[in-house]
Amino acid sequence: MSFGDLRGWIDHLRKEGELQEINAEVNWDCELGTVARKAFGTGNGPALLFNNITGYNKKDARCSQVFTGGLSKYSRVAMMFGLPKDASITELVKAARKAYSGRIPPRIVKDGPVKENILKGDDINLFDFPIPKWHREDGGRYINTMQGNVTMDPDTGRMNVGMYRGMIGTKNTLPVLLWRAQNWGGDFQKWVDRGEEMPVACVYGWEPSLPFCASSPIPPDVSEYDVMGAMRGEPVDLVKCETVPLMVPASAEMVVEGYISNDPSTFEMEGPFGEYTGYFGGDQGPKHKIRITAITHRNNPIFRGTLEGTLPKMLNENSIMSSVQRAALAWNILERSGVPGITDVHCPAANNGTTLIIQMRQRYRGQAKQAAMAIWGSNASHLRYKHVWVVDEDIDIHDYASLDWAFAYRVNAAEDDIIFVPGTFGSALDPSTRLQYRDTLKFGTGKWARVLIDATVNMDFEPQEQYGGERYPPTVRPHQQDLDMVNRRWKEYGFK
Ligand SMILES: Cc1cc2nc3c(=O)[nH]c(=O)nc-3n(C[C@H](O)[C@H](O)[C@H](O)COP(=O)(O)O)c2cc1C
Repeated sequence: MSFGDLRGWIDHLRKEGELQEINAEVNWDCELGTVARKAFGTGNGPALLFNNITGYNKKDARCSQVFTGGLSKYSRVAMMFGLPKDASITELVKAARKAYSGRIPPRIVKDGPVKENILKGDDINLFDFPIPKWHREDGGRYINTMQGNVTMDPDTGRMNVGMYRGMIGTKNTLPVLLWRAQNWGGDFQKWVDRGEEMPVACVYGWEPSLPFCASSPIPPDVSEYDVMGAMRGEPVDLVKCETVPLMVPASAEMVVEGYISNDPSTFEMEGPFGEYTGYFGGDQGPKHKIRITAITHRNNPIFRGTLEGTLPKMLNENSIMSSVQRAALAWNILERSGVPGITDVHCPAANNGTTLIIQMRQRYRGQAKQAAMAIWGSNASHLRYKHVWVVDEDIDIHDYASLDWAFAYRVNAAEDDIIFVPGTFGSALDPSTRLQYRDTLKFGTGKWARVLIDATVNMDFEPQEQYGGERYPPTVRPHQQDLDMVNRRWKEYGFK
């Protein structure tokens, strides 16, 4: 579904009762983040538009509004896909699967509202924008939280749009977390090999398909712009940047253009940041920075950011988005790899795709292991899918009690139901990995032993005559004929 721009999306949310506007004065310094944390709740809070931010509420402020939480509830992910607000998680996952497989290339236009203001040289000042300090322990004011960083593969011209964190360094520098195993890391390596700085454009505030696609591991040879087009059902209108050879949505709220050098003498301190794991991560250290060459923005731009960091019963946009994105991507990977019989896939919101649960109809021995290996062999598993569960079709993968029962009686470590794959790439932000293995400047990525919990009925077991030809005994679930009779007579027994 297309909304035109961020403003169109906000209007839609307002109409649907999904937006809370906050007109009381709120300080960007930790107060705004805390309001967002409390309002997001357990993934049931509204989207938030802050209209009165300390230090940015005078007439001459360049930017005075912050929007967050657009996708912090499943109902709004449903709205993004044009589905009913009460669509099930599985329906959202199926919609995302379809969008990821679609491609509508962008359309190049000459001009757009994002060019209403063009700042260069001394006029560039990130402090002119009400960028929140989301948490007290954050290393700075995190500007890059819900944006899309546009980069280009210099060999093919393919533009990648990825969401990677970054904070205000100085008025015209933006230190970032640049990992080589991410797609912009791949682009960066190619620019480094050419002995050149990498051009980059950070896009803030557009339709929800931008942050949704920017934070999805789309295959490296595919541009997120094509997938965004498929998701909204029409091409994304792009305009040329002012100082970098890249293109950005013409109706974005704001764009920061610049270059990244690989020369360590240019690095600036970055981190830590309240990360998706729920811990502060990516410790303070010298990191690559964007040397800003231009900022363009609409009149009265609305800054788009988000509060990261998931804890049990404390969900946010990343948790809800990841739950849909990571399940959809995994399902597509399984299908492309030819793993048969997949009936549903789920990533519980509390761990942002670190745990993947696959439900399947088993046809042959080793199918669960085939599924896990297909997932772990994909680039999509870089920061995710540390722990993979596979269960049979009769287990409700959205219900932890059902999984726990399957874990109890269909898992036997002595029967190879728990498999470890050590020494794989992993999240450098996961504190369960020793700090020394999380040095991305040295290793490019983190280090995980991945685990498969195969909670399916063991196909190595012989079918048993006494079990009616099945490998496991019958369950105690009453037969339908008995249930029908008891249901009919229920009131006769004295039950209400
Ligand atoms: C709010 C948010 C912040 C993120 N921050 C980072 C980050 O700092 N570094 C990173 O490599 N990935 C980060 N991610 C995950 C990436 O966006 C994700 O892995 C995405 O697939 C990257 O795009 P790519 O596949 O084109 O590289 C973040 C995701 C979200 C939702």
